[in-house]
Amino acid sequence: MPENKKTIMSGMRPTGKLHIGHYMGVLKNWVELQNDYNCYYAIADWHALTTKYEETEELNQHIIEVATDWLASGINPQESIIYVQSLIPQIAELHVYLSMITPYNWVERDPALKDMVQILSKKTDEQEAKDPTASGVITYGLLGYPVLQSADIMIFNASLVPVGKDQVAHLELSRDIARKFNNIYKTDYFNEPQPKLTTAPLLKGIDGQKMGKSFNNDIKLSDSDEITAKKIMRAITDRSRIKRTDPGHPDECEVVYTYYSIFADETTQNIVRKECSAGTRGCKDCKIELANLINNYFKNIREKRKELEQDTDYIKQVIFEGSKKAKQRAAEVLYEVKDIMNLYKV
Ligand code: TRP
Ligand code: SF4
Repeated sequence: MPENKKTIMSGMRPTGKLHIGHYMGVLKNWVELQNDYNCYYAIADWHALTTKYEETEELNQHIIEVATDWLASGINPQESIIYVQSLIPQIAELHVYLSMITPYNWVERDPALKDMVQILSKKTDEQEAKDPTASGVITYGLLGYPVLQSADIMIFNASLVPVGKDQVAHLELSRDIARKFNNIYKTDYFNEPQPKLTTAPLLKGIDGQKMGKSFNNDIKLSDSDEITAKKIMRAITDRSRIKRTDPGHPDECEVVYTYYSIFADETTQNIVRKECSAGTRGCKDCKIELANLINNYFKNIREKRKELEQDTDYIKQVIFEGSKKAKQRAAEVLYEVKDIMNLYKV
């Protein structure tokens, strides 16, 4: 890898097949950055374990799914390093060192972590109501989530982190930790990692809520044209419209019209806007046309994915090679870190 390029690091938790929101919000950005940066893209299975430590049966399958979606989307293993977090033990070691210098109240303050804890506490309460012996799901490991994420980034001394808005709070903590390390050990070794946000608008789920697998409102990258169309038919539209001839309000059609504004060219957008407002466009036809646009947009990715699905050995090979490279670089950084911290050498 050329030395003069800046380093980018980002990751996703392996929770299964990815949806088009992942693609538009994060993956597309990752693909575009490949030429200009040294890119490390992690399948963050330890982060998945912070909450799903009881559900490990499908973890391997999920890792393969994520890698397949990435490759189908255009992440090029000749350019970018794709790896599995748990294959890089140096991350865990750096996590230990960072956890020593991270004040407890910095972690407690992280609003993104607070949100996760809140969602989980609700689940725990429900679980405990059913089964009073159920142990709390909020673990020591979960508290370390943002510190572990900082270790992910700092193990390659990355300076940029392309993520969605939801991760910005974690990253602020990463910068604080990097700065504190530099201050304590009187060095300028670590970069303070900055978020690199996309301008892409957040893609909502078909019900208008945040798109997510667990909400059953997502369209998968791997969905067929038929399933995509079926899901779009379920999408909410301008609720004030009852009859086909009622004038519609595209701006209040927060799923279908918003998708048009992302997947259609301007001419088409204008036509939809005009016809909808005039009451000459039926929502059903409007959705059929939208489904076609989306299916067209993801045609190549889906074809590539179908091919890749047939070749799990290749996917595993990519992960193996990527993890090997990531480990080499991680070992170099860790060596420097231990040296800076005056740790015992043999
Ligand atoms: N926490 C991120 C998410 O849930 C995934 C992640 C793990 C990550 N390690 C990272 C993102 C390092 C950016 C950098 O999406
Ligand atoms: Fe939305 Fe299209 Fe119906 Fe207008 S016609 S309300 S844009 S689905």
